[in-house]
Amino acid sequence: MQIIEPISDMREWSESQRRAGRRIVLVPTMGFLHEGHLCLMRDARLRGDLVVASIFVNPTQFGPGEDFAAYPRDFERDRRMLEAEGVDVLFHPSAAQIYPAGAQTFVEVEKLSAPLCGAARLGHFRGVATVVAKLLNIVQPHAAIFGEKDFQQLQVIRRMVRDLAMDVEIIGHPIVRESDGLAMSSRNSYLTAAERQAAVCLSRALCKAERWFRRGEKAAAALVNLVVAELAKEPLAKVEYVQLCDAETLDEVGAIGAPAVLALAVRIGNARLIDNRVLKP
Ligand code: PAF
Repeated sequence: MQIIEPISDMREWSESQRRAGRRIVLVPTMGFLHEGHLCLMRDARLRGDLVVASIFVNPTQFGPGEDFAAYPRDFERDRRMLEAEGVDVLFHPSAAQIYPAGAQTFVEVEKLSAPLCGAARLGHFRGVATVVAKLLNIVQPHAAIFGEKDFQQLQVIRRMVRDLAMDVEIIGHPIVRESDGLAMSSRNSYLTAAERQAAVCLSRALCKAERWFRRGEKAAAALVNLVVAELAKEPLAKVEYVQLCDAETLDEVGAIGAPAVLALAVRIGNARLIDNRVLKP
């Protein structure tokens, strides 16, 4: 596996591979990799000739008081995991390259960035859209893969790519879960043993709502109340939001008539955890 740091080297590599007719698939990450990331790498391998993974803990997507400094980092472990997975290139730029002195250009996907996580994390999706635009510009992949746990992020990126006429296919990968249902996330490492046990309440609540939906419940109020009640049984869980939204526009819906996403964010200890279920009529 090649490790590339300068933007110019990354671009040169991509240009020569594209000229040779090879299909490049990018998996952007912030590192501290887990099995969920590795599933994205395997998916990327099936979808292209060459897999590029990027590791960059993007400062602009963390708000003041958020966990940028504490965000877990272990480059050596990540490198070994990517190497073992057969990834072709690890792109690992510095912050000074991604945000050169005087940088003042940002990408804002206005409407999709406002609700859900965007309401609690002001500027978060502006940071995400900006860094993903930069990574796509630098790596020039044919396709890029993102996990569906960050459902809003995926929709923001899809919209950005459409709106800016970027020539790249955006692929969503289904949420990868631990055996008890907890969605995999680098932030799960913040959980103590007791909090880790408590964290299963997110997926349990969503599973219950999905069962109700399958039995015919379509009303947002009933499904949301059910999830809130289920989460309330866990004393360590502090609910930030539970909402049912149209899966494409992310507008809140009163009932499920088209594909909808039941999304939630919950604080457990120092971790802010998110999860979702797409419910299709
Ligand atoms: O999902 C993530 O890990 C990050 O938000 C991303 C897409 C790599 C952008 O920094």
